Amino acid sequence: MNKTKMDTQLYDFGMIGLGTMGRNFLLNVADHGFSAVGLDKDDEKARLLEQEAGFRKIKGATETSDFVQLLAKPRKIMLLVPAGQVVDIVIEDLLPHLEEGDLVIDGGNSFYEDTNRREAYLKEKGIHFLGIGVSGGSKGARFGPSIMPGGEEDAYELVRPIMEAVSAKVNGVPCVAYLGKTSSGNYVKMVHNGIEYSLMQLIAEAYDVLKRVGGLSNQQLHTVFSNWNEGRLRSFLIEITAQIFNQNDPVAEGDLIDKILDKAKQKGTGKWTSQNAMDLGIAIPSIDAAVSMRGISSSKSEREAAEAFFDLQLSGASIDQSDLVVLVEQGLYFAFIVTYAQGMRLLAEASEEYQYNLNMETISRIWRGGCIIRAELLELMRQAYQNEPHLKNLLLADAFKEKLLETHKATRLMIKLGIDYGIPLMGFTSTLAYFDAYRTARLPLNLVQAQRDLFGAHNYERIDLEGIFHMNWD
Ligand code: 6PG
Repeated sequence: MNKTKMDTQLYDFGMIGLGTMGRNFLLNVADHGFSAVGLDKDDEKARLLEQEAGFRKIKGATETSDFVQLLAKPRKIMLLVPAGQVVDIVIEDLLPHLEEGDLVIDGGNSFYEDTNRREAYLKEKGIHFLGIGVSGGSKGARFGPSIMPGGEEDAYELVRPIMEAVSAKVNGVPCVAYLGKTSSGNYVKMVHNGIEYSLMQLIAEAYDVLKRVGGLSNQQLHTVFSNWNEGRLRSFLIEITAQIFNQNDPVAEGDLIDKILDKAKQKGTGKWTSQNAMDLGIAIPSIDAAVSMRGISSSKSEREAAEAFFDLQLSGASIDQSDLVVLVEQGLYFAFIVTYAQGMRLLAEASEEYQYNLNMETISRIWRGGCIIRAELLELMRQAYQNEPHLKNLLLADAFKEKLLETHKATRLMIKLGIDYGIPLMGFTSTLAYFDAYRTARLPLNLVQAQRDLFGAHNYERIDLEGIFHMNWD
Protein backbone atom coordinates (compact mmCIF):
# COMPACT_ATOMS: atom_id res chain seq x y z
CA MET A 1 0.00 0.00 0.00
CA ASN A 2 2.80 2.37 0.89
CA LYS A 3 4.13 3.69 -2.41
CA THR A 4 7.40 4.94 -0.92
CA LYS A 5 8.28 1.57 0.54
CA MET A 6 9.82 -0.34 -2.38
CA ASP A 7 9.18 -4.00 -2.24
CA THR A 8 11.70 -6.17 -4.06
CA GLN A 9 9.82 -9.42 -3.71
CA LEU A 10 7.83 -10.42 -6.78
CA TYR A 11 4.47 -12.02 -6.20
CA ASP A 12 3.00 -15.11 -7.89
CA PHE A 13 -0.57 -13.97 -8.34
CA GLY A 14 -2.51 -10.72 -8.53
CA MET A 15 -6.16 -9.98 -7.82
CA ILE A 16 -8.11 -6.90 -8.87
CA GLY A 17 -11.23 -6.24 -6.84
CA LEU A 18 -10.94 -6.79 -3.11
CA GLY A 19 -14.61 -7.19 -2.26
CA THR A 20 -15.46 -10.27 -0.21
CA MET A 21 -15.00 -12.65 -3.15
CA GLY A 22 -11.67 -11.21 -4.31
CA ARG A 23 -10.22 -10.93 -0.83
CA ASN A 24 -11.28 -14.43 0.13
CA PHE A 25 -9.94 -15.92 -3.10
CA LEU A 26 -6.61 -14.23 -2.53
CA LEU A 27 -6.39 -15.46 1.07
CA ASN A 28 -7.12 -18.94 -0.26
CA VAL A 29 -4.30 -18.57 -2.83
CA ALA A 30 -1.89 -17.50 -0.09
CA ASP A 31 -2.99 -20.35 2.19
CA HIS A 32 -1.63 -22.68 -0.47
CA GLY A 33 1.84 -21.20 -0.41
CA PHE A 34 1.59 -18.72 -3.29
CA SER A 35 2.45 -15.10 -2.70
CA ALA A 36 -0.30 -12.74 -3.76
CA VAL A 37 -0.97 -9.07 -4.27
CA GLY A 38 -4.39 -7.45 -4.36
CA LEU A 39 -5.42 -4.19 -6.01
CA ASP A 40 -8.39 -2.05 -5.11
CA LYS A 41 -8.74 1.67 -5.68
CA ASP A 42 -10.56 1.76 -2.36
CA ASP A 43 -7.63 1.94 0.07
CA GLU A 44 -9.83 0.71 2.91
CA LYS A 45 -10.26 -2.59 1.07
CA ALA A 46 -6.53 -2.87 0.36
CA ARG A 47 -5.84 -2.16 4.03
CA LEU A 48 -8.38 -4.77 5.13
CA LEU A 49 -6.61 -7.34 2.95
CA GLU A 50 -3.24 -6.67 4.59
CA GLN A 51 -4.85 -6.75 8.00
CA GLU A 52 -6.36 -10.17 7.30
CA ALA A 53 -3.18 -11.45 5.68
CA GLY A 54 -1.43 -12.26 8.96
CA PHE A 55 1.57 -14.51 8.33
CA ARG A 56 0.62 -15.04 4.67
CA LYS A 57 2.65 -13.53 1.80
CA ILE A 58 0.04 -10.99 0.80
CA LYS A 59 0.25 -7.35 -0.15
CA GLY A 60 -2.40 -4.72 -0.83
CA ALA A 61 -2.05 -2.05 -3.54
CA THR A 62 -4.15 0.91 -4.59
CA GLU A 63 -2.25 1.98 -7.74
CA THR A 64 -2.30 -0.12 -10.90
CA SER A 65 1.36 0.60 -11.74
CA ASP A 66 2.58 -0.51 -8.27
CA PHE A 67 0.40 -3.58 -8.44
CA VAL A 68 1.68 -4.65 -11.86
CA GLN A 69 5.32 -4.05 -10.94
CA LEU A 70 4.97 -6.30 -7.93
CA LEU A 71 4.06 -9.32 -10.04
CA ALA A 72 6.45 -11.96 -11.38
CA LYS A 73 6.41 -12.37 -15.19
CA PRO A 74 4.48 -13.57 -17.00
CA ARG A 75 2.02 -11.79 -14.74
CA LYS A 76 -1.07 -13.67 -13.65
CA ILE A 77 -3.85 -11.25 -12.85
CA MET A 78 -7.36 -12.21 -11.91
CA LEU A 79 -10.35 -9.86 -11.88
CA LEU A 80 -13.18 -10.38 -9.43
CA VAL A 81 -15.22 -7.28 -10.20
CA PRO A 82 -18.91 -6.92 -11.13
CA ALA A 83 -19.69 -8.32 -14.57
CA GLY A 84 -20.31 -5.85 -17.38
CA GLN A 85 -18.61 -2.60 -18.26
CA VAL A 86 -16.46 -2.58 -15.12
CA VAL A 87 -14.46 -5.48 -16.56
CA ASP A 88 -13.67 -3.45 -19.70
CA ILE A 89 -12.73 -0.42 -17.64
CA VAL A 90 -10.35 -2.46 -15.49
CA ILE A 91 -8.78 -4.06 -18.58
CA GLU A 92 -8.22 -0.64 -20.17
CA ASP A 93 -6.63 0.58 -16.95
CA LEU A 94 -4.32 -2.43 -16.85
CA LEU A 95 -3.31 -2.60 -20.50
CA PRO A 96 -0.63 0.17 -20.59
CA HIS A 97 1.21 -1.61 -17.77
CA LEU A 98 1.15 -5.13 -19.20
CA GLU A 99 3.70 -6.91 -21.38
CA GLU A 100 3.38 -9.58 -24.01
CA GLY A 101 2.72 -12.97 -22.49
CA ASP A 102 0.96 -11.66 -19.37
CA LEU A 103 -2.32 -13.28 -18.42
CA VAL A 104 -5.59 -11.62 -17.45
CA ILE A 105 -8.33 -13.80 -15.93
CA ASP A 106 -11.93 -12.70 -15.56
CA GLY A 107 -13.42 -14.63 -12.64
CA GLY A 108 -16.82 -12.92 -12.60
CA ASN A 109 -20.17 -13.97 -14.04
CA SER A 110 -19.44 -12.33 -17.38
CA PHE A 111 -21.69 -12.80 -20.38
CA TYR A 112 -20.01 -15.35 -22.65
CA GLU A 113 -20.07 -13.10 -25.73
CA ASP A 114 -18.20 -10.41 -23.80
CA THR A 115 -15.54 -12.99 -23.02
CA ASN A 116 -15.14 -13.85 -26.71
CA ARG A 117 -14.74 -10.16 -27.52
CA ARG A 118 -12.23 -9.53 -24.72
CA GLU A 119 -10.16 -12.58 -25.57
CA ALA A 120 -9.86 -11.50 -29.22
CA TYR A 121 -9.07 -7.90 -28.23
CA LEU A 122 -6.29 -8.88 -25.82
CA LYS A 123 -4.89 -11.49 -28.17
CA GLU A 124 -4.14 -8.72 -30.70
CA LYS A 125 -2.00 -7.13 -28.01
CA GLY A 126 -0.20 -10.35 -27.10
CA ILE A 127 -2.00 -10.68 -23.78
CA HIS A 128 -3.59 -14.00 -22.76
CA PHE A 129 -7.14 -13.95 -21.48
CA LEU A 130 -9.17 -16.58 -19.64
CA GLY A 131 -12.85 -16.44 -18.70
CA ILE A 132 -13.22 -18.49 -15.55
CA GLY A 133 -16.45 -19.30 -13.76
CA VAL A 134 -16.08 -19.41 -9.99
CA SER A 135 -18.87 -20.84 -7.88
CA GLY A 136 -19.38 -21.25 -4.17
CA GLY A 137 -20.06 -17.77 -2.89
CA SER A 138 -17.73 -16.02 -0.48
CA LYS A 139 -17.16 -19.13 1.65
CA GLY A 140 -16.30 -21.14 -1.45
CA ALA A 141 -13.82 -18.49 -2.59
CA ARG A 142 -12.17 -18.65 0.83
CA PHE A 143 -12.04 -22.41 1.38
CA GLY A 144 -12.49 -24.06 -2.01
CA PRO A 145 -14.73 -23.08 -4.92
CA SER A 146 -15.59 -25.01 -8.04
CA ILE A 147 -13.68 -23.38 -10.89
CA MET A 148 -14.66 -23.50 -14.58
CA PRO A 149 -11.82 -22.24 -16.79
CA GLY A 150 -12.15 -21.51 -20.49
CA GLY A 151 -9.77 -20.03 -23.07
CA GLU A 152 -6.43 -21.09 -24.55
CA GLU A 153 -5.14 -24.23 -22.85
CA ASP A 154 -1.56 -22.89 -22.78
CA ALA A 155 -2.75 -19.85 -20.89
CA TYR A 156 -4.57 -22.05 -18.40
CA GLU A 157 -1.35 -24.00 -17.83
CA LEU A 158 0.17 -20.81 -16.39
CA VAL A 159 -2.30 -20.86 -13.49
CA ARG A 160 -3.27 -24.52 -13.32
CA PRO A 161 -1.22 -25.23 -10.16
CA ILE A 162 -2.80 -22.28 -8.37
CA MET A 163 -6.35 -23.14 -9.49
CA GLU A 164 -5.96 -26.79 -8.55
CA ALA A 165 -4.56 -25.84 -5.15
CA VAL A 166 -7.35 -23.41 -4.25
CA SER A 167 -10.32 -25.35 -5.63
CA ALA A 168 -12.60 -27.60 -3.60
CA LYS A 169 -11.59 -31.27 -3.53
CA VAL A 170 -13.79 -34.34 -3.67
CA ASN A 171 -11.92 -37.48 -2.61
CA GLY A 172 -8.73 -35.53 -3.20
CA VAL A 173 -9.72 -34.65 -6.79
CA PRO A 174 -9.76 -30.89 -7.53
CA CYS A 175 -13.07 -29.34 -8.61
CA VAL A 176 -11.40 -27.55 -11.51
CA ALA A 177 -10.40 -28.66 -14.98
CA TYR A 178 -9.71 -26.98 -18.29
CA LEU A 179 -13.07 -26.97 -20.08
CA GLY A 180 -12.45 -25.66 -23.56
CA LYS A 181 -11.67 -22.72 -25.80
CA THR A 182 -12.92 -19.11 -25.77
CA SER A 183 -15.93 -18.43 -23.54
CA SER A 184 -16.60 -22.05 -22.54
CA GLY A 185 -15.83 -21.36 -18.85
CA ASN A 186 -18.30 -18.50 -18.61
CA TYR A 187 -20.87 -20.41 -20.62
CA VAL A 188 -20.66 -23.44 -18.32
CA LYS A 189 -20.93 -21.13 -15.29
CA MET A 190 -23.99 -19.47 -16.83
CA VAL A 191 -25.72 -22.84 -17.23
CA HIS A 192 -24.60 -23.77 -13.70
CA ASN A 193 -26.51 -20.71 -12.53
CA GLY A 194 -29.55 -21.60 -14.64
CA ILE A 195 -29.62 -25.00 -12.93
CA GLU A 196 -29.15 -23.21 -9.60
CA TYR A 197 -32.24 -21.06 -10.29
CA SER A 198 -34.34 -24.14 -11.05
CA LEU A 199 -33.22 -26.13 -8.01
CA MET A 200 -33.91 -23.14 -5.76
CA GLN A 201 -37.39 -22.68 -7.27
CA LEU A 202 -38.20 -26.38 -6.85
CA ILE A 203 -37.12 -26.30 -3.22
CA ALA A 204 -39.26 -23.20 -2.67
CA GLU A 205 -42.28 -24.99 -4.20
CA ALA A 206 -41.64 -28.05 -2.03
CA TYR A 207 -41.66 -25.72 0.99
CA ASP A 208 -44.96 -24.20 -0.15
CA VAL A 209 -46.62 -27.62 -0.46
CA LEU A 210 -45.27 -28.88 2.86
CA LYS A 211 -46.39 -25.71 4.60
CA ARG A 212 -49.75 -25.08 2.94
CA VAL A 213 -50.96 -28.65 2.37
CA GLY A 214 -49.22 -30.38 5.26
CA GLY A 215 -49.16 -27.51 7.75
CA LEU A 216 -45.52 -28.18 8.66
CA SER A 217 -43.97 -25.69 11.07
CA ASN A 218 -40.55 -24.15 10.45
CA GLN A 219 -39.05 -26.53 13.00
CA GLN A 220 -40.62 -29.50 11.23
CA LEU A 221 -39.34 -28.15 7.92
CA HIS A 222 -35.88 -27.85 9.45
CA THR A 223 -36.03 -31.51 10.49
CA VAL A 224 -37.40 -32.68 7.13
CA PHE A 225 -34.72 -30.87 5.10
CA SER A 226 -31.99 -32.00 7.51
CA ASN A 227 -33.12 -35.61 7.07
CA TRP A 228 -33.27 -35.22 3.29
CA ASN A 229 -29.74 -33.95 3.38
CA GLU A 230 -28.69 -37.30 4.85
CA GLY A 231 -30.18 -39.15 1.89
CA ARG A 232 -30.12 -39.10 -1.91
CA LEU A 233 -31.10 -35.42 -2.03
CA ARG A 234 -27.92 -34.47 -0.19
CA SER A 235 -26.77 -31.17 -1.64
CA PHE A 236 -25.62 -27.72 -0.68
CA LEU A 237 -29.01 -26.14 -1.43
CA ILE A 238 -30.95 -28.67 0.68
CA GLU A 239 -28.42 -28.21 3.49
CA ILE A 240 -28.73 -24.42 3.59
CA THR A 241 -32.52 -24.68 3.35
CA ALA A 242 -32.54 -26.77 6.54
CA GLN A 243 -30.37 -24.13 8.18
CA ILE A 244 -32.65 -21.27 7.07
CA PHE A 245 -35.72 -22.83 8.75
CA ASN A 246 -33.82 -22.95 12.02
CA GLN A 247 -32.94 -19.25 12.07
CA ASN A 248 -34.57 -16.96 14.63
CA ASP A 249 -35.42 -13.41 13.67
CA PRO A 250 -32.55 -11.30 15.04
CA VAL A 251 -34.66 -8.16 15.47
CA ALA A 252 -38.12 -9.41 16.50
CA GLU A 253 -40.05 -12.42 17.77
CA GLY A 254 -40.38 -15.48 15.55
CA ASP A 255 -38.46 -17.03 12.69
CA LEU A 256 -36.54 -15.00 10.15
CA ILE A 257 -37.97 -16.88 7.13
CA ASP A 258 -41.46 -15.57 7.91
CA LYS A 259 -40.24 -11.97 7.85
CA ILE A 260 -38.40 -12.05 4.54
CA LEU A 261 -40.18 -10.30 1.67
CA ASP A 262 -41.23 -12.74 -1.06
CA LYS A 263 -39.53 -10.88 -3.93
CA ALA A 264 -36.50 -12.70 -5.36
CA LYS A 265 -33.93 -10.55 -7.09
CA GLN A 266 -31.69 -11.65 -9.95
CA LYS A 267 -28.48 -10.55 -11.56
CA GLY A 268 -29.16 -12.03 -14.97
CA THR A 269 -27.35 -15.34 -15.40
CA GLY A 270 -30.56 -17.40 -15.21
CA LYS A 271 -32.24 -15.15 -17.75
CA TRP A 272 -29.22 -15.41 -20.08
CA THR A 273 -29.44 -19.21 -19.85
CA SER A 274 -33.09 -19.14 -20.92
CA GLN A 275 -32.46 -16.59 -23.66
CA ASN A 276 -29.55 -18.54 -25.09
CA ALA A 277 -31.42 -21.84 -24.90
CA MET A 278 -34.19 -20.23 -26.98
CA ASP A 279 -31.59 -19.11 -29.51
CA LEU A 280 -30.21 -22.62 -29.75
CA GLY A 281 -33.69 -24.19 -29.87
CA ILE A 282 -33.13 -26.25 -26.74
CA ALA A 283 -35.93 -26.68 -24.21
CA ILE A 284 -35.05 -25.91 -20.59
CA PRO A 285 -38.55 -25.21 -19.20
CA SER A 286 -37.56 -25.82 -15.57
CA ILE A 287 -35.06 -22.98 -15.77
CA ASP A 288 -37.48 -20.77 -17.73
CA ALA A 289 -40.10 -21.35 -15.01
CA ALA A 290 -37.65 -20.34 -12.30
CA VAL A 291 -36.81 -17.12 -14.13
CA SER A 292 -40.54 -16.42 -14.67
CA MET A 293 -41.31 -17.01 -11.00
CA ARG A 294 -38.68 -14.45 -10.00
CA GLY A 295 -40.45 -12.06 -12.36
CA ILE A 296 -43.88 -12.75 -10.85
CA SER A 297 -42.46 -12.51 -7.35
CA SER A 298 -41.29 -8.97 -8.02
CA SER A 299 -44.89 -7.73 -8.68
CA LYS A 300 -45.83 -7.91 -5.02
CA SER A 301 -48.52 -5.22 -4.96
CA GLU A 302 -50.22 -6.60 -8.08
CA ARG A 303 -50.28 -10.05 -6.49
CA GLU A 304 -51.80 -8.66 -3.32
CA ALA A 305 -54.54 -6.93 -5.28
CA ALA A 306 -55.20 -10.04 -7.37
CA GLU A 307 -55.47 -12.23 -4.27
CA ALA A 308 -58.21 -10.00 -2.91
CA PHE A 309 -59.83 -9.69 -6.36
CA PHE A 310 -60.26 -13.44 -6.91
CA ASP A 311 -60.64 -14.35 -3.26
CA LEU A 312 -60.38 -18.06 -4.07
CA GLN A 313 -60.30 -20.39 -1.09
CA LEU A 314 -59.18 -23.66 -2.65
CA SER A 315 -58.44 -26.85 -0.82
CA GLY A 316 -58.02 -30.49 -1.63
CA ALA A 317 -57.78 -33.86 0.01
CA SER A 318 -55.97 -33.90 3.31
CA ILE A 319 -52.90 -36.06 3.48
CA ASP A 320 -50.94 -37.45 6.35
CA GLN A 321 -47.86 -35.32 7.06
CA SER A 322 -45.41 -38.19 6.84
CA ASP A 323 -46.94 -39.42 3.55
CA LEU A 324 -46.67 -35.89 2.17
CA VAL A 325 -43.00 -35.67 3.16
CA VAL A 326 -42.32 -38.93 1.29
CA LEU A 327 -44.20 -37.66 -1.77
CA VAL A 328 -42.37 -34.35 -1.88
CA GLU A 329 -38.97 -36.00 -1.40
CA GLN A 330 -39.65 -38.17 -4.43
CA GLY A 331 -40.93 -35.20 -6.40
CA LEU A 332 -37.82 -33.18 -5.61
CA TYR A 333 -35.52 -36.03 -6.53
CA PHE A 334 -37.33 -36.47 -9.84
CA ALA A 335 -37.26 -32.74 -10.58
CA PHE A 336 -33.60 -32.35 -9.61
CA ILE A 337 -32.61 -35.07 -12.10
CA VAL A 338 -34.74 -33.60 -14.88
CA THR A 339 -33.30 -30.12 -14.21
CA TYR A 340 -29.70 -31.29 -14.46
CA ALA A 341 -30.64 -33.19 -17.62
CA GLN A 342 -31.93 -29.99 -19.26
CA GLY A 343 -28.83 -28.02 -18.29
CA MET A 344 -26.52 -30.72 -19.63
CA ARG A 345 -28.55 -31.00 -22.83
CA LEU A 346 -28.08 -27.27 -23.37
CA LEU A 347 -24.35 -27.58 -22.72
CA ALA A 348 -24.09 -30.38 -25.28
CA GLU A 349 -25.77 -28.23 -27.90
CA ALA A 350 -23.69 -25.15 -27.08
CA SER A 351 -20.57 -27.28 -27.25
CA GLU A 352 -21.33 -28.06 -30.89
CA GLU A 353 -22.62 -24.62 -31.81
CA TYR A 354 -19.68 -22.74 -30.32
CA GLN A 355 -17.07 -25.49 -30.81
CA TYR A 356 -16.28 -25.65 -27.11
CA ASN A 357 -15.70 -29.40 -27.26
CA LEU A 358 -17.03 -29.81 -23.73
CA ASN A 359 -16.61 -33.03 -21.81
CA MET A 360 -19.75 -33.76 -19.80
CA GLU A 361 -17.99 -36.12 -17.42
CA THR A 362 -15.46 -33.40 -16.57
CA ILE A 363 -18.20 -30.86 -15.93
CA SER A 364 -20.10 -33.27 -13.67
CA ARG A 365 -16.85 -34.00 -11.85
CA ILE A 366 -15.95 -30.38 -11.11
CA TRP A 367 -19.51 -29.64 -9.98
CA ARG A 368 -19.37 -32.38 -7.31
CA GLY A 369 -17.83 -29.99 -4.79
CA GLY A 370 -17.44 -26.30 -4.06
CA CYS A 371 -20.26 -24.93 -6.22
CA ILE A 372 -23.82 -23.95 -5.34
CA ILE A 373 -25.34 -26.88 -7.27
CA ARG A 374 -23.06 -29.51 -5.73
CA ALA A 375 -25.08 -32.58 -4.87
CA GLU A 376 -24.81 -36.30 -4.37
CA LEU A 377 -26.41 -36.67 -7.80
CA LEU A 378 -23.35 -35.21 -9.55
CA GLU A 379 -21.28 -38.34 -8.95
CA LEU A 380 -24.03 -40.45 -10.53
CA MET A 381 -24.05 -38.04 -13.46
CA ARG A 382 -20.30 -38.30 -13.78
CA GLN A 383 -20.54 -42.09 -13.88
CA ALA A 384 -23.33 -41.94 -16.47
CA TYR A 385 -21.17 -39.80 -18.77
CA GLN A 386 -18.14 -41.97 -18.10
CA ASN A 387 -20.14 -44.98 -19.29
CA GLU A 388 -21.61 -43.12 -22.27
CA PRO A 389 -19.59 -40.00 -23.14
CA HIS A 390 -21.95 -39.04 -25.96
CA LEU A 391 -25.16 -39.58 -24.05
CA LYS A 392 -27.69 -37.32 -25.78
CA ASN A 393 -29.79 -36.70 -22.70
CA LEU A 394 -29.16 -37.74 -19.11
CA LEU A 395 -32.77 -38.98 -18.94
CA LEU A 396 -31.70 -41.81 -21.22
CA ALA A 397 -28.97 -43.08 -18.90
CA ASP A 398 -29.79 -46.50 -17.41
CA ALA A 399 -28.91 -45.33 -13.90
CA PHE A 400 -31.40 -42.47 -14.10
CA LYS A 401 -34.14 -44.43 -15.89
CA GLU A 402 -34.83 -46.48 -12.76
CA LYS A 403 -34.89 -43.43 -10.53
CA LEU A 404 -37.26 -41.54 -12.82
CA LEU A 405 -39.60 -44.50 -13.12
CA GLU A 406 -39.61 -44.79 -9.34
CA THR A 407 -40.38 -41.12 -8.66
CA HIS A 408 -42.52 -39.73 -11.49
CA LYS A 409 -45.80 -40.97 -9.99
CA ALA A 410 -45.14 -39.16 -6.72
CA THR A 411 -44.36 -36.03 -8.72
CA ARG A 412 -47.73 -36.30 -10.47
CA LEU A 413 -49.54 -36.75 -7.13
CA MET A 414 -47.71 -33.79 -5.65
CA ILE A 415 -48.65 -31.61 -8.63
CA LYS A 416 -52.29 -32.73 -8.32
CA LEU A 417 -52.26 -31.55 -4.71
CA GLY A 418 -50.80 -28.24 -5.84
CA ILE A 419 -53.57 -27.84 -8.43
CA ASP A 420 -56.34 -28.65 -5.94
CA TYR A 421 -54.97 -26.27 -3.33
CA GLY A 422 -54.20 -23.55 -5.88
CA ILE A 423 -50.48 -23.60 -5.09
CA PRO A 424 -48.38 -22.44 -8.06
CA LEU A 425 -45.95 -25.24 -8.89
CA MET A 426 -44.55 -23.74 -12.07
CA GLY A 427 -41.18 -25.42 -11.57
CA PHE A 428 -42.58 -28.89 -10.92
CA THR A 429 -45.21 -28.76 -13.67
CA SER A 430 -42.70 -27.52 -16.26
CA THR A 431 -40.27 -30.19 -15.20
CA LEU A 432 -42.81 -33.00 -15.43
CA ALA A 433 -44.08 -31.66 -18.77
CA TYR A 434 -40.52 -31.69 -20.12
CA PHE A 435 -40.16 -35.31 -19.06
CA ASP A 436 -43.52 -36.26 -20.58
CA ALA A 437 -42.80 -34.36 -23.79
CA TYR A 438 -39.36 -35.85 -24.15
CA ARG A 439 -40.65 -39.41 -23.72
CA THR A 440 -43.58 -38.95 -26.14
CA ALA A 441 -42.83 -40.31 -29.58
CA ARG A 442 -45.78 -38.60 -31.25
CA LEU A 443 -46.58 -35.12 -30.03
CA PRO A 444 -49.62 -33.13 -31.21
CA LEU A 445 -47.36 -30.75 -33.11
CA ASN A 446 -48.57 -32.32 -36.36
CA LEU A 447 -51.58 -30.07 -35.82
CA VAL A 448 -49.38 -26.97 -35.39
CA GLN A 449 -47.68 -27.86 -38.65
CA ALA A 450 -51.07 -28.24 -40.38
CA GLN A 451 -52.16 -24.86 -39.04
CA ARG A 452 -48.97 -23.26 -40.34
CA ASP A 453 -49.59 -24.74 -43.75
CA LEU A 454 -53.24 -23.68 -43.79
CA PHE A 455 -52.74 -20.03 -42.91
CA GLY A 456 -49.27 -19.43 -44.27
CA ALA A 457 -48.52 -22.13 -46.86
CA HIS A 458 -45.50 -23.11 -44.76
CA ASN A 459 -45.61 -26.74 -46.00
CA TYR A 460 -45.42 -29.92 -44.00
CA GLU A 461 -43.67 -33.26 -44.06
CA ARG A 462 -45.49 -36.59 -43.92
CA ILE A 463 -44.84 -39.64 -41.82
CA ASP A 464 -45.34 -42.01 -44.75
CA LEU A 465 -43.82 -40.23 -47.77
CA GLU A 466 -40.55 -38.40 -48.39
CA GLY A 467 -40.59 -34.75 -49.39
CA ILE A 468 -42.26 -31.44 -48.65
CA PHE A 469 -46.01 -31.08 -49.08
CA HIS A 470 -48.55 -28.29 -49.29
CA MET A 471 -52.31 -28.69 -49.14
CA ASN A 472 -54.72 -26.37 -50.86
CA TRP A 473 -56.92 -26.21 -47.77
CA ASP A 474 -59.69 -24.25 -49.50
C1 6PG B 1 -22.28 -19.07 -7.40
C2 6PG B 1 -23.50 -18.19 -7.50
C3 6PG B 1 -23.08 -16.77 -7.67
C4 6PG B 1 -24.18 -15.78 -7.38
C5 6PG B 1 -25.36 -15.91 -8.27
C6 6PG B 1 -26.58 -15.24 -7.72
O1 6PG B 1 -22.19 -19.96 -8.23
O2 6PG B 1 -21.47 -18.87 -6.50
O3 6PG B 1 -24.25 -18.58 -8.60
O4 6PG B 1 -22.53 -16.65 -8.94
O5 6PG B 1 -24.55 -15.88 -6.06
O6 6PG B 1 -24.99 -15.33 -9.47
O7 6PG B 1 -27.37 -14.99 -8.81
P1 6PG B 1 -28.66 -14.13 -8.77
O8 6PG B 1 -28.34 -12.86 -8.03
O9 6PG B 1 -29.02 -13.91 -10.19
O10 6PG B 1 -29.67 -14.95 -8.03
